[in-house]
Amino acid sequence: MESHVKIFDTTLRDGEQAPGCSMNINEKIEVAKQLEILKVDIIEAGFAISSPGDFNSVEAISKAVKNCTVASLARAVQKDIDSAYEAVKNAVSPRIHTFLATSPIHMEHKLKMTPDQVIERIQQSVSYAKNYCSDVQFSAEDATRSEREFLAKAVKTAIDAGANVINIPDTVGYAAPEEMYTLIRYLMETVSGIEKVDVAVHCHNDLGMAVANSLAGVRAGARQVECTVNGLGERAGNAALEEIVMGIKTRYNLYGGYTNIDTKQIYRTSKLIYNVIGQTAAINKPIVGANAFAHEAGIHQHGVLADKSTYEIMIPEEIGITKNKLVLGKHSGKHAIADKLTELGYTFTEKELGEYYDKIMALSDKKKFITDSDIDAIVTNRRRIEGVYKLVHFDVHTTKNATSTCVIKLMRENEEFEEVSLGQGPINAAYNAIDKITGSICEEMSNYNIHSVSDGNDALGEVTVKLKAKDKTVTGRGLSTDIIESSILAYINGINKLLEII
Ligand code: KIV
Ligand code: ZN
Repeated sequence: MESHVKIFDTTLRDGEQAPGCSMNINEKIEVAKQLEILKVDIIEAGFAISSPGDFNSVEAISKAVKNCTVASLARAVQKDIDSAYEAVKNAVSPRIHTFLATSPIHMEHKLKMTPDQVIERIQQSVSYAKNYCSDVQFSAEDATRSEREFLAKAVKTAIDAGANVINIPDTVGYAAPEEMYTLIRYLMETVSGIEKVDVAVHCHNDLGMAVANSLAGVRAGARQVECTVNGLGERAGNAALEEIVMGIKTRYNLYGGYTNIDTKQIYRTSKLIYNVIGQTAAINKPIVGANAFAHEAGIHQHGVLADKSTYEIMIPEEIGITKNKLVLGKHSGKHAIADKLTELGYTFTEKELGEYYDKIMALSDKKKFITDSDIDAIVTNRRRIEGVYKLVHFDVHTTKNATSTCVIKLMRENEEFEEVSLGQGPINAAYNAIDKITGSICEEMSNYNIHSVSDGNDALGEVTVKLKAKDKTVTGRGLSTDIIESSILAYINGINKLLEII
């Protein structure tokens, strides 16, 4: 019989921990709301004790999300568990996720604890968490490099202390699929009481096995998979949500389970996350890469034209790709726009609807076809434009083999500031002029990235750029059909974000 495989999304905790992937609180809330629309079962919102910023985000997400369980990570110590509970207590369905390493390497070198002390600590921490919350997850960190009998003892201790979810992480991405399968089977067959709890797998991708190992765990009976959107995560990342979900869906006979994920939201969720962290998918990334559904070779094209099933095991529409579909145009009324926004899963006030309407109408003057991707870009961009500095005007002069010039006018608290600067190209000139106005807040700029939101030479161009000051890095974003304007907006957005945190 098919059973429900729960999706535990840890993009906002294990994913966000990766270098270059940090998000501010508003971005985290935006991502959490999209994960809710995607219908993940559990959102791990952060590691509450790790910083005041993390605590605030976990708390805010707990209040904002209504249809998913919200979890916070906690080491197996009371102060962490106190903080985790404090942060999630307002969630409709709160979870405390506590963990302790069980491998000889971690116990000896990191924890400096004996195996008996580890068992005692698991008992204490899980029962302590259970006093706060009925939903307690225990993870045996580095489980795949632990001694099996000891791991079974640790799992049994956690279950007896009240854990209702037991997670078996492959923390360093060391396991092979056969090993993951036999390990989960071994635990399920030897630990009494394990049939009452959800067994979870949490795999890292150091040897490129994270998804294969997670699916092997599912085949062995795990009913919770921990993963991140786009496989974000430290080092080589975590198991990618979209690959696991489509694996389970496409090969349902093999895995004997189903997820509750609305797969039509996968593409948008993936794009949102890439956009927030200022990256783009590798073109051959499974499921969401630009070439994931492209058939270039003549023999393949011929086969697909004759019958799609010759070379296509999934269809792009299943993950929500609606390329170039005309959705709205110049003559669409406010009603049609409201319907479209609702269909895409957005909630909005009357005032916001008015602003989206104006932006969509302005865009329809410049662009023939307005697609779902354009609307996603407008909505996500509008949510992020508030800030101290606003662009009033720019004027750029650029020619081949000569220095470019840019005049920039910005507004700050109703006062206008104007500067002119030279540069190696129009964007460099514009950024130099902005630096003159803002006082060179940005110490380092990296990862300038531009991509088109949809196809066609009238497409919206989206720019992301990473700015650094006082050891803090933010991602600035800008959107326009004019790529110089998107570049300027991205830089101003980054500066506004730096001003909020330094
Ligand atoms: O990889 C890991 O072991 C973890 C645990 C904290 C679950 O992220
Ligand atoms: Zn992890």
